[in-house]
Amino acid sequence: MPAVYVKEIGKFNGQEVTVRGWLYNKRSSGKIRFLLVRDGTGLIQCVLDRSSISPEVFDSYEKLSQESSLMVTGKVREDKRAPGGYELNLSDVEVVQVAIDYPISPKEHGVEFLMDRRHLWLRSSRQQTILKLRNEIIKAIRDYFYENDFILIDTPILTGSIGETAATLFSTEYFNLGKAYLAQTGQLYVEAACVAFGKVYCFGPTFRAEKSKTRRHLTEFWMVEGEMAYYDHNDNMDVQEELVVYVVERILEKKRAELESLGRDLSPLENVKKPFARILYDEAIKILQKKGSKIQWGDDLGGEDETVLANEFDRPVFISCYPKEVKAFYMKPNPDDPRTSLCNDLLAPEGYGEIIGASQRNDDYDSLLARIKEEKLPVDAYEWYLDLRKYGSVPHSGFGLGLERTVAWICGVKHIRESIPFPRTIYRLYP
Ligand code: 4AD
Ligand code: MG
Repeated sequence: MPAVYVKEIGKFNGQEVTVRGWLYNKRSSGKIRFLLVRDGTGLIQCVLDRSSISPEVFDSYEKLSQESSLMVTGKVREDKRAPGGYELNLSDVEVVQVAIDYPISPKEHGVEFLMDRRHLWLRSSRQQTILKLRNEIIKAIRDYFYENDFILIDTPILTGSIGETAATLFSTEYFNLGKAYLAQTGQLYVEAACVAFGKVYCFGPTFRAEKSKTRRHLTEFWMVEGEMAYYDHNDNMDVQEELVVYVVERILEKKRAELESLGRDLSPLENVKKPFARILYDEAIKILQKKGSKIQWGDDLGGEDETVLANEFDRPVFISCYPKEVKAFYMKPNPDDPRTSLCNDLLAPEGYGEIIGASQRNDDYDSLLARIKEEKLPVDAYEWYLDLRKYGSVPHSGFGLGLERTVAWICGVKHIRESIPFPRTIYRLYP
């Protein structure tokens, strides 16, 4: 008997097949018993009819509990009323293992209860849908870069130089070489690579010892970072805009039904078209003050400020040229206003906040060295980075898009902990 996946069951209409999976649910109705079986690709309703099978097979219904593993064999029959459009009329059931007292029942559970059982919670259909969307979003991101001739450069996770800020470092002893830091970003390394290859990107886990317990912060998250030689601040925003439009279009094209099953309102996603508004930090402050905020020029934007600003627009919005004090050391000073940097954030709509942080990089040896010293970073750890400003330095720019925030936004999931398989936060290292 060919073992098939539920996803492709329609190809076997009228034939006898085996599905290998787990029991999602069951119910009985008169002389008929129904097993709802999931196999990771979908759900299939399986029918046990007493009149056509052996009593042993029929009675397996009794001992099967939620999440028991099983192999079911039967004839595929089209049935418009069944979930997925097909049913299996079972001739055989092979029980692989009986799961006793599976802790997650279809009733409501608190989120901490579920997060403590994240290793099991992944089996529920909503969590599967979110993580399959994450898979599709990652594929779209990689396709964008591939189609646009960016070279993938994998950057190290153990690093000797601080990528962003000393405030949120995880560190570990590294043999005789002192401290190693878990990467906060791959940026410094893709800057080196863009001089070798022109256009590059990295995509990997990044780490921040964030004490914040907001719905937007993880201590381990995935970031995709593009870096382009000879691109300035505006070229940089063009790439970010294209990437975000590309990803959202792909998901709307391929995953509408999945988004709808999450209850996602699609209309804000349909608006994600070029061009995105580009406003200066100065204007952002004025908008916020007009809305009654106490924010002053020089302050960083908080999560609430970002939501207020984003609500002024019907699609993502770029905020650029923040004061240099609230941004990282490697950004190029803005020639029009040296108090600020040539940087931008991209804010997602609907309160999801900053999904991209970006800048043109400081390509001048002396002023970069001065900034490294100003930030009291250890200069010797940056010698290699400063080399890039000695040998063929060019204007270059790049950005980092946070994967989990992007997944949360596209899926319409409130808290980013559901947009990663095993979230790490200040309070969670388990499972
Ligand atoms: O703005 P950030 O800190 O920028 C950088 O790391 C740059 N080196 C990127 C670059 O220019 N190559 O982080 C980039 C993005 C944020 O916009 C956000 O989406 C995400 O990473 N991010 C987080 N996501 C989840 N949890 C956290 N603690 C995050 N911190 C940043
Ligand atoms: Mg940022």
